[in-house]
Amino acid sequence: IERTLILIKPDGVKRQLTGQILSRIEAKGYEIAELKQVSATREQLEAHYEEHVGKPFYEPLVEFMASGPLVAIIAEGQNVIPGFRSLAGTTDPTTAAPGTIRGDLGRDWGLKVQQNLVHGSDSEESAAREIGIWFA
Ligand code: GTP
Ligand code: MG
Repeated sequence: IERTLILIKPDGVKRQLTGQILSRIEAKGYEIAELKQVSATREQLEAHYEEHVGKPFYEPLVEFMASGPLVAIIAEGQNVIPGFRSLAGTTDPTTAAPGTIRGDLGRDWGLKVQQNLVHGSDSEESAAREIGIWFA
């Protein structure tokens, strides 16, 4: 059965949206296989975002992700990798479709696109790698 790594980012935890986000995952029919609240280490974040090293938003992104606790989840289900990406909506909450987590709950933070509530793995390879980082 397919597994994906979901993070509720610090903005989601601070805004007390953990329950609502979990409800959407469960309502879709995905199983929560593992769940924990964690304060990310710099090492975990560098590994998690290694594909973005050197991009202009990399440092602010890592800083933001370290700014408070986040919730790490392994969700399981058929096609859960693309399925959760679809539930989350596109990266920018301003233009994410209504009905998605980012479209319904994400706020317009101007240039701070990193505050988009959730992360979801984008491929089977990413999911395996990311599960290893957060659930070692
Ligand atoms: P994730 O599920 O979090 O990986 O989002 P994504 O796959 O939709 O986006 P991507 O992997 O391209 O970027 C990872 C994260 O970096 C995004 O979720 C945003 O938080 C942040 N990000 C991406 N692009 C930008 C940008 O242009 N500006 C800023 N400030 N942040 C960005
Ligand atoms: Mg991504």
